[in-house]
Amino acid sequence: MSDPVTRFEQGLARVTDAFGPAFAEAHDEQDLRAANARFAGPQGELTALMKTMREVPGDRRRELGKSANAVKQAVAEAFELGLTRLAQAARDAELSAPALDPTLPGRGVRPGRLHAITRVRHELVDIFASLGFDVAEGPEVDLYDYNFDKLGFPPDHPATDMQDTFFVTREEDGEPATSLLRAHTSTVQVREMLRREPPFAIISPGAVYRRDDDATHSPMFFQIEGLLVDQDVSFSELMGVLTLFVKRLLGDDVPVRFRPSYFPFVEPGGEVDVGCTLCRPWADGGAERSAACGVCKGTGWLEVLGCGMVHPVVFENVGYDPEKVTGFAFGMGIDRIAMLRYGVPNIKLLYENDIRFLSGF
Ligand code: PHE
Repeated sequence: MSDPVTRFEQGLARVTDAFGPAFAEAHDEQDLRAANARFAGPQGELTALMKTMREVPGDRRRELGKSANAVKQAVAEAFELGLTRLAQAARDAELSAPALDPTLPGRGVRPGRLHAITRVRHELVDIFASLGFDVAEGPEVDLYDYNFDKLGFPPDHPATDMQDTFFVTREEDGEPATSLLRAHTSTVQVREMLRREPPFAIISPGAVYRRDDDATHSPMFFQIEGLLVDQDVSFSELMGVLTLFVKRLLGDDVPVRFRPSYFPFVEPGGEVDVGCTLCRPWADGGAERSAACGVCKGTGWLEVLGCGMVHPVVFENVGYDPEKVTGFAFGMGIDRIAMLRYGVPNIKLLYENDIRFLSGF
C-alpha cells in the first residue's frame, strides 16, 4: 500500500469505477459540474493523483501516465455527454409539457370601460330622450352661415372672434362657401329647422372647436344642444324642462338658478347655474365649505348652460313664421358636466388618455 505504483494504480481504478455512476446520478447541471469537480477539478481526485506521478519510478511513469491521461480523457468526454444529456432532457420535458399550465395563477382581464365624456353624454341623451327629445347629428365642419349668420350674429360681431376656429372654403351647391370647424352645436338648430316642420324637439351632442385653452377650456370640446319648436311655447316650459334635467342629473336637492344673459339667437336669453356639487353650500355646514371651495371659487354656484327663447330672426332665417311658432333652445358643455360629476380639476386630464387617471372613476 505504501508503494507509489500500487497507490497510483488503485487510485486510478477508484476514479475509473466512480465517475460513470457519479455523472449518471446528476439530475441537473449543477450536480454534474460538482461531480466533475470531484474528479477533474483543481482539488479533484484525478488531479491529486496526477500530482503523485513524480513519485512513480521512471520505468513505470510512461505507462501509468498514459493510463491516467486516458482516464482524464474519459472523464472529460463523460462530462460533455452528461451536459448534452441534461440539455436534451430539459428540451424534451419542455416539448412534452402541456402548452397551457392550468396551475399558474391567472393574469386577470381588466375590463375596458367607456370614457367619462362618453358616459356623461349617454346620460344626458338618456334624460332628454326620456322627455321626448330626438337625437339629431350635424357635421363638425359646417357653413359659416349656419354657425353665425342664420343664428342672427350681426356681421363681424365681436362674439365671432372668440369663436373663430379653422376656416375652409368648400363647394356648397356648386358655389364656393365659407365653412369652419363649428364653434358650437347651435349649427344643428339651423339644420334641423331647415329640414323639419314644427312641432319637434331635438338634442344634438357633438364636438366643437374654439380659440380657448386653459384649465377649464380646451380648443376641442363637446356640447349638447337642445331645441324645441311648437306653438305657444313659454319661458316657464324652458325653465321646467331644464330644472327637471338638472335634478335628474345631479339630484333633487341641488338648487338651480336662472340668470339673464345674451346670445344673438335667443330672446330672452339666460344662463343656468347649479349649486356647486363639490362644496354643497345648501347642505349642513355648507357656507364654510363654500368659502374655501376652489371649484366654485367661493360663490356656491357653477354655470352649466346657456339657453333662451328662439329669436324671431332665427325663425325668419329658416323660413318659419315667427308670428306662428315659438320655441326654446339650450346648449351646454358635456366636458363641464363630466368635470362636475367626477370632480376633475383640469379639462386637459380628460384628453391626455393617461390610464391612471381614466381608470380612477
Ligand atoms: N351656443 C351657445 C354657446 O355655445 C349656447 C347656447 C345654445 C345658448 C342655445 C343659448 C341657446 O355658448
